[in-house]
Amino acid sequence: MKKVQYALIGAGTRWTMSYSGWFEENNHLADIIAIAEPIKEKREYHAKKHNIPSEAVFESWEPMLEYLKNKDVDGVMICTSDHDHYKPAMACLEQNYHLLLEKPIAPTPQECIDIAKLAKEKDRVVLVAHVLRYTPFFNKIKSLIDTGEIGKIQAIQHTENIGSFHMAHSFVRGTWNNTKKSNPIIMSKSCHDLDILMYLTGSINCTKVAGFGSLKHFTKENAPAGAQERCTKKCSVYETCPYSIKTYLTTGGFAKSVTATGELDTLEKDLQEGPHGRCVYYCDNNVCDSMSSILELEDGVNITFSLSAFTDKINRTINIMGSHGQIRANMTDDVVELSKFGEGDGPYRNGASVLSHPSAEAVSNSKHGYAGHGGGDSRFLEDFLQATNGQGKALTTATESIQSHLIAFALEESRLTEKIIKMDEYKKRF
Ligand SMILES: NC(=O)c1ccc[n+]([C@@H]2O[C@H](COP(=O)([O-])OP(=O)(O)OC[C@H]3O[C@@H](n4cnc5c(N)ncnc54)[C@H](O)[C@@H]3O)[C@@H](O)[C@H]2O)c1
Repeated sequence: MKKVQYALIGAGTRWTMSYSGWFEENNHLADIIAIAEPIKEKREYHAKKHNIPSEAVFESWEPMLEYLKNKDVDGVMICTSDHDHYKPAMACLEQNYHLLLEKPIAPTPQECIDIAKLAKEKDRVVLVAHVLRYTPFFNKIKSLIDTGEIGKIQAIQHTENIGSFHMAHSFVRGTWNNTKKSNPIIMSKSCHDLDILMYLTGSINCTKVAGFGSLKHFTKENAPAGAQERCTKKCSVYETCPYSIKTYLTTGGFAKSVTATGELDTLEKDLQEGPHGRCVYYCDNNVCDSMSSILELEDGVNITFSLSAFTDKINRTINIMGSHGQIRANMTDDVVELSKFGEGDGPYRNGASVLSHPSAEAVSNSKHGYAGHGGGDSRFLEDFLQATNGQGKALTTATESIQSHLIAFALEESRLTEKIIKMDEYKKRF
């Protein structure tokens, strides 16, 4: 098998927490031959970790692409923040590189379409990190749907439980808290969910969408009496507030994503000075903390999708209702349950259920162990590897990946304008 050569743009949290370790473990399969990262600390840390020679270490992607012109490059990984994907993606495609592209693809429908079009024109792989498609959990559900055992899908209820402290960390204090620098939450958090819903239903056209939601809780009006703008031990509610930075310091939850390199030696200083040390009621956040969406598909299937900050667990649950049976699944508990109507022995002959634990089964078979996003992250990297080393074809194309993004953009427009959006009319605008 050919050993591939990749270049990296953006060595931030996503790279550090989800991908870097895989490359360390699999350095017999792939080399990182160049890195572009403006922050010195991160740049030097990862250049050293991945043995990148000093002439291939850059402060930004533009000079790195110049350097790569004379090199053998199998792919570029774009892990910059949401608003910094478009320019490097277009430039890399112009240079004919295959791309691993972090989601969300880009902050406007037109930019997403541009990337998909250029990828097609250049015949390049653009593998968008919709990692749920690679999880044993959702693959099990997909395979059960495809057996036809529950008949034709009639309706789906899907829930994304963000988790209260996860919300505070990422969408109130953190990177994705404001649409000006990131995206609406239906995109930044839930393009994954919209993508997986398209995958499970066989990418049937979505015809209509409606979105409802707002930022209700994380505002200054809801600040407890005595709360201070920075979260410190001096605040009168430090001990009792569920969102206080005490969680980082005592449980370690999300702490690695507070510091630049994922090492915890600077945690206290970063909390004193950085955005994650702010009081959740005094941040510059504007994204919804709950949102409900309704989607209608071409064949009449209707989907309700709810995302919320106010959950104890961080997980996804799904209920797929078919003409002859039902699939219920809960990602945290790693349970997928299939019931077939008419096969039970209860009063309505319902309830003959088959339970499975797909992730647990996959862990024992997995070569690289069990990585983030329910095993999706490592399998996603393996897919990119196969698509770029001549061993296989990528699971998705950019054209497929933008479908969920267009739905997310339309849902946000629906939420803001209080109108139902017809997707065919919406798409014609671009
Ligand atoms: N697929 C998933 O499930 C998933 C999960 C988390 C994050 N993400 C996405 O991954 C992306 C990165 O997120 P993150 O949390 O790592 O953000 P981050 O801000 O921690 O990292 C982005 C990095 O890009 C660097 N950068 C900025 N300008 C650059 C330039 N000109 N050239 C090279 N590098 C540059 C920044 O310095 C930073 O280190 C985002 O789009 C995010 O939404 C995806």
